[in-house]
Amino acid sequence: MTQPTRVAITGAAGQIGYQLAFRIASGQMLGPNTPVILQLLEIPPALGALKGVEMELLDCAFPTLAGVVATDKAEEAFADAHYALLVGAKPRGAGMERKDLLLENAKIFSAQGKALNDNADRQVRVLVVGNPANTNALIAYRNAPDLDPARFTAMTRLDHNRALAQLAAKTGKSVNAIRQMTLWGNHSATQYPDISHCTVDGKPAPSLVDETWVRDDFIPTVQQRGAAIIKARGVSSAASAASAAIDHVRDWALGSPADDWVSMAVPSDGSYGITEGIVYSFPVRCKQGRWEIVQGLEISEFSRTRMKATEAELLEERDGVRDLI
Ligand code: NAI
Repeated sequence: MTQPTRVAITGAAGQIGYQLAFRIASGQMLGPNTPVILQLLEIPPALGALKGVEMELLDCAFPTLAGVVATDKAEEAFADAHYALLVGAKPRGAGMERKDLLLENAKIFSAQGKALNDNADRQVRVLVVGNPANTNALIAYRNAPDLDPARFTAMTRLDHNRALAQLAAKTGKSVNAIRQMTLWGNHSATQYPDISHCTVDGKPAPSLVDETWVRDDFIPTVQQRGAAIIKARGVSSAASAASAAIDHVRDWALGSPADDWVSMAVPSDGSYGITEGIVYSFPVRCKQGRWEIVQGLEISEFSRTRMKATEAELLEERDGVRDLI
C-alpha cells in the first residue's frame, strides 16, 4: 500500500484553512492515488474550532484521507511533514503599523522555520500563504539552516491567476488560451503582472491589447484585486486563495504544463538582477518536484522599472526583520 503523504496546514481553522483542508483531503492537490494525513496547527484559542474542522473532515469519508492530527504544537504538526502550507498569520489589528505587523509575523515564522528544521521530512516542500508572505518565507528558510532554501516558497499564484482572468476577459478568450503569464516580485500592491511574454491562442498578447489598458487598467486591477474583494465581501479572499495554493503545490509536486510556466515566489539566485536571497516571484517551470526560474526573457524598460520597485519593497521588508534572519 502507498505510504500516506503528510501535509501540514497552519491556521487550519481560519477562512483559507477551512477551504484548503477539504480540497487536499479529497485528493485535489496530490491526486486521487495519494493518501494524505492532514496535520493541522492552530493557536490554543482556535482549538475548539479546529476540532470541528477535524470532525467535518472525518464526516466527508474521503477515500484519500488517511488520518487527521489537530494540535497547537508546531513540532507535532510538522512531524515528518512532506508538505507544509503556512497559512496562519497574525492579521493587522486596528491602529497597527505595517512595521509592527511585519515584526509580529516575523516571530511566528521564525519559530515555525525552526520547528520545520527540527521535525519535518528533509524533502519537505513549504508554501507560505500568510502575509507578508514573501518576507515570512525568507524568515522561515533563514531559520531552517538544515533544509535546502529551495524548499521554501511563497504564494503569488493567486495574483497570477487574477492576471489570467483579467486578460481572458479583455480578449474574450478562455484562460486556457493563455500561456506564459508572469507575476514578478512581492505579493503586495507593488507586484508586477507582466503580459509581455504572454500569448493568447498563440498570438502575442501585447499585439491584442493596447498599452494604455495594460498600464492604467490591467496592472492596477490585478494589484488592487485583494482590496476589491474585501470591499465586496467584507472579508478577504479565501476560496480563490485556497484554490491558488492547491495550484501552486500541485504544479510544484506533479509538474507545470510542458508548454507553459507558472509564477512562484522563491529565494532569488540573482536571476534578472534581483538581489540574491530575497523571496521574489519569478516565472518558473516545475519538473520532477523541483522548480526552476525561466531564464533569458527579454525585459523592457517599462518592466525593469516595475520589477525594481517591487524588489525595493522586499529589501525594505527584509531590513525591517534583520534581527530574525
Ligand atoms: P483567518 O484570520 O481567517 O485565519 C488565520 C488563522 O490562523 C486563524 O484561525 C488563526 O487562529 C490562525 N493562526 C494565527 N497565528 C497562528 C500561529 N502562530 N500558528 C497557527 N495558526 C495561527 O485568515 P485567512 O483569511 O485564512 O488568511 C490567512 C493568511 O493568508 C492572512 O495572513 C492573509 O493575509 C493571507 N492571504 C494571503 C494570500 C496570498 O495570495 N499570499 C491571499 C489571501 C490571504
